[in-house]
Amino acid sequence: MKKGFEKYIPFKNVEIKNRKWPDNVITKAPVWCSVDLRDGNQALVNPMNLEQKVEFFKLLVEVGFKEIEVGFPSASNTEYEILRELIEGGHIPDDVTIQVLVQCREHLIKRTFEAIKGAKNVILHFYNSTSALQRKVVFHKDKAGITQIAVDAARLIKQMESEVGDTNIRYEYSPESFSGTECDYAVEICDRVIEEIGATPDNKIILNLPSTVECCTPNRFADMIEYFCDNLKHRDSAIISIHPHNDRGTGIATAELSLLAGADRIEGTLFGNGERTGNVDIVTLALNMYSQGVDPHLDFSNINHVKKIYEDATSMKVHERHPYAGKLVFTAFSGSHQDAINKGVQYMRETDSDYWEVPYLPIDPADVGREYEPIIRINSQSGKGGAAFVMRSLGYDLPKKMHVEFGDIIKKACDEAGTELDASEVFKIFEDEYINFTGKYKLVKKSVHEESDESGSKVHFDGTILTPDGERAISGVGNGPIDAFFTALKSIGISDYEFMSYSEHAISSGADSKAVAYIELKNKEGKSIFGVGIASNINHASLKGIICAINRDLKSKERK
Ligand code: KIV
Ligand code: ZN
Repeated sequence: MKKGFEKYIPFKNVEIKNRKWPDNVITKAPVWCSVDLRDGNQALVNPMNLEQKVEFFKLLVEVGFKEIEVGFPSASNTEYEILRELIEGGHIPDDVTIQVLVQCREHLIKRTFEAIKGAKNVILHFYNSTSALQRKVVFHKDKAGITQIAVDAARLIKQMESEVGDTNIRYEYSPESFSGTECDYAVEICDRVIEEIGATPDNKIILNLPSTVECCTPNRFADMIEYFCDNLKHRDSAIISIHPHNDRGTGIATAELSLLAGADRIEGTLFGNGERTGNVDIVTLALNMYSQGVDPHLDFSNINHVKKIYEDATSMKVHERHPYAGKLVFTAFSGSHQDAINKGVQYMRETDSDYWEVPYLPIDPADVGREYEPIIRINSQSGKGGAAFVMRSLGYDLPKKMHVEFGDIIKKACDEAGTELDASEVFKIFEDEYINFTGKYKLVKKSVHEESDESGSKVHFDGTILTPDGERAISGVGNGPIDAFFTALKSIGISDYEFMSYSEHAISSGADSKAVAYIELKNKEGKSIFGVGIASNINHASLKGIICAINRDLKSKERK
């Protein structure tokens, strides 16, 4: 044998001229078939027990699958009994079709017919392997011998159809290992099966073309599908299904390009469980369509619930970075990403946009039942936008100019802690730094009233302020409450501050509604400093904000 990479045989392309699929676009959902309970289940260290399979089946129904491959009933008594329980226990809704897998072998086909008795809708899925490699090393048969296996099975199945009673039965045939089968031969064997089973445009057969082992790039596989669709004699009597595995890590792309190339149906599993590297992940496929404005007809609006049942039943874990479902996929650590997300969310709010236009988030996390809050996590890499975003998610809309100041405070706290901060820690810092900040001055009593005469109106402030020298009564008059308060402060020598900007908003609704005021002052060195005040009266909130800013400035000078 050759050494290293040289011992591998490169994939042989199907010859196709003027391929059409690259210009196509996915505009509608395919027919979905979940193979979680068969392909997925057979790849588990501990296959699901009856209870787990029933619960998983219910989940698949809840998500919206109308075709579900439930097992391989002729393979073992357990599989047989589980199928009987699904049928006899009344777990299968009338609009759901169960699918059962069987090899092209007489005794297994007969047992499968017994197993499906009493079911309302069934797809009987039979298969045999067709690839050049399997013909050579496993079956030691030529193409004619392999075709005979499929044709004999189709004939037997057709004969047994009379035994199914009231069951609506449809058929699916898979040339297993299609991905390694010469395309012209795959077409030939499938046409023979169609003829033998008697499929018609009104009673189509599903032809399932598996990339049993994914062995080429997705574009090459799409070529195979286009070739197959264009060359099948009885194309109008067949539903073309694909069943991608993920050996090269490109199962999703293979499925998507195959849809462009003419496939009508997809078999796959939730989160891509399945043999080896898994089957194609239907969650990702469906949500990829969703993100392009195409209704996938599958409901993943509570992805955490789907994930929980999946993880419990399979003992597999959904990776943190798994598209749409992973713990971290709606999280931005990088400062510039946080800032852009923050701006996107703000833009959406301000413009009342009809479309989702938030950078870095391909879908709205709320659409899969995820929350905004964990989108932004704060660590020392995070920028000013991240901290502001977290505060906004908690109901505090910090003015833009304050983002820098508060962002720096949070960054320093992260550096000191050496870890990321969660939302509650960010809020605690905000409270300590602004709302509960105590310093040299405290406003003990305050009263603001307006007086007007023919010459206009004036606002009067009267109050008491606690200073290091004790309580001092202060009063002042001005154009508004803030102006009047500044005049009052000047009367006891607090005159180093210039008022710069002010913003406010309500922070709770209902009877106990409060207002928060953000005040920006400039100290005598020309540095801007913020203060925050909360009170049920907006005037009082601003006065508290002014004292807060002054106290913070004095404290920072003391520290230096
Ligand atoms: O991957 C495969 O080829 C299969 C077939 C049985 C459809 O699972
Ligand atoms: Zn498979």
